[in-house]
Amino acid sequence: MSNQRENWGSKIGLILAMAGNAIGLGNFWRFPYQAASNGGGAFMIPYFAALIMIGIPIMLVEWNLGRYGGKYGHGTIGPMVYLQAREGVSPRKAAIIGALAGSFAFAVTLLVNSYYNQIIGWTLGYSFLSLTGGYMDEAKSTGEVFVGYIQSPKVFIFWIIALAGLGIAVMRGVQKGIESWAKLMMPVLYVFGIILAIRAITLGSPVNPDWSSFKGLNYIWNPDFTKLNWTSALAAAGQIFFTLSIGMGIICNYASYLKPDDDVVVSSFATISLNEFAEIILGGTAVIPIAYAFLGPEGVGAGVGLSFIALPNVFRAMPAGQIFGALWFLLLFFAGFTSAIAMYNYLVALMEEDLGVHRKKAAWVIFFAYIIVGLPVALEPILTKTADLVYLTEVDNWVGVYLLIVLGFIEAATAGWLMGDRALEELNRGGYWKIPSWFFNLFVKGITPISIAILLIFSTKDYID
Ligand code: PHE
Repeated sequence: MSNQRENWGSKIGLILAMAGNAIGLGNFWRFPYQAASNGGGAFMIPYFAALIMIGIPIMLVEWNLGRYGGKYGHGTIGPMVYLQAREGVSPRKAAIIGALAGSFAFAVTLLVNSYYNQIIGWTLGYSFLSLTGGYMDEAKSTGEVFVGYIQSPKVFIFWIIALAGLGIAVMRGVQKGIESWAKLMMPVLYVFGIILAIRAITLGSPVNPDWSSFKGLNYIWNPDFTKLNWTSALAAAGQIFFTLSIGMGIICNYASYLKPDDDVVVSSFATISLNEFAEIILGGTAVIPIAYAFLGPEGVGAGVGLSFIALPNVFRAMPAGQIFGALWFLLLFFAGFTSAIAMYNYLVALMEEDLGVHRKKAAWVIFFAYIIVGLPVALEPILTKTADLVYLTEVDNWVGVYLLIVLGFIEAATAGWLMGDRALEELNRGGYWKIPSWFFNLFVKGITPISIAILLIFSTKDYID
């Protein structure tokens, strides 16, 4: 079966596709508002700790699990966890763990897409709005424009256009669909991101001379230790999962299209570096300082609407703002689109390989499933007549903060505890860099699963208290 599966066409295509997978709305939409609402600089401490203790080890585990599963013709986490666990425990136990991880991942991926695709639709809609000057008229606040937008039929139109684009890309398969989109969109994304970040740091505040964008940069890098607690630590770990696309097995899926001896170690670090550059340097520098310049220290924590409410203010006030606005929202669109392709392909692979449904048919089934799970998110602002987006925020918190982390625990425990040293051997096959056994023993067998468990326990306790 494995020889029927597609492989990546080129190394550069693979790396850009992985970067496209990881770099998404998480970097430009979610990171700024999570960092801002969890104490700015204080958030960055647990963020970096989680990157090292959890992000890097799980990224390695997922690439490894993926290449391993691909050899057996499987591209999703359930069968992969089963195959690996089988080397440590009885096939029956392995099957239970595999089924648990597989169904959990399926549900979580669907849930993420209930709002993820919606926001991709907003970014596309806002790209057009920017070009046509839709928020340039100062008579209406950008908040009012946003409320108006998410309550209008345009939301449905752009949502469906985005979904159709995704469906077509996924139906075309790995090389013609995923890889070619990534090769086009990712370089453009970096260019736009750099232009916008440079524009952002040279911005003074027209509202309050004390709120220069430079101070905003300071705000994200200056830690306020009083804001450190279990809840912000959990939010930081959740952001690491979300931004690196780890937990659901989405990285595994792309890695399953590797050839059996392709490198996984260097590729893991390449994925992380490309993503973190986009998150911290571009996402952090473009959004937070701009929001700070216009909204001040209080307003930066504006929540899920930050990108759509804060940033149009800047585009209004700058020369060629319509163009910069369109660039910004197109950047968000490209980022979101290439990540959504990864999730869509994952669900299709699950139906195709694990349940035997034909690829085209599976793509249609997922298309309609996305519409069903997305409807509550699309309808909320219309029914409540507000832009509070309580449901969206709540689902994002559950998925991003809790569920991905639980899945990460299953992955690390399977590789570290059940498969053990054989997982390390597999990881170091092919490739130029080897992971030393002390690193594997210390992290994958120890710090990674244990720190996840501690985070889950203490933050649940905080939540109950
Ligand atoms: N990593 C993507 C982002 O940053 C989102 C994503 C999460 C994609 C989980 C796949 C899996 O937006």
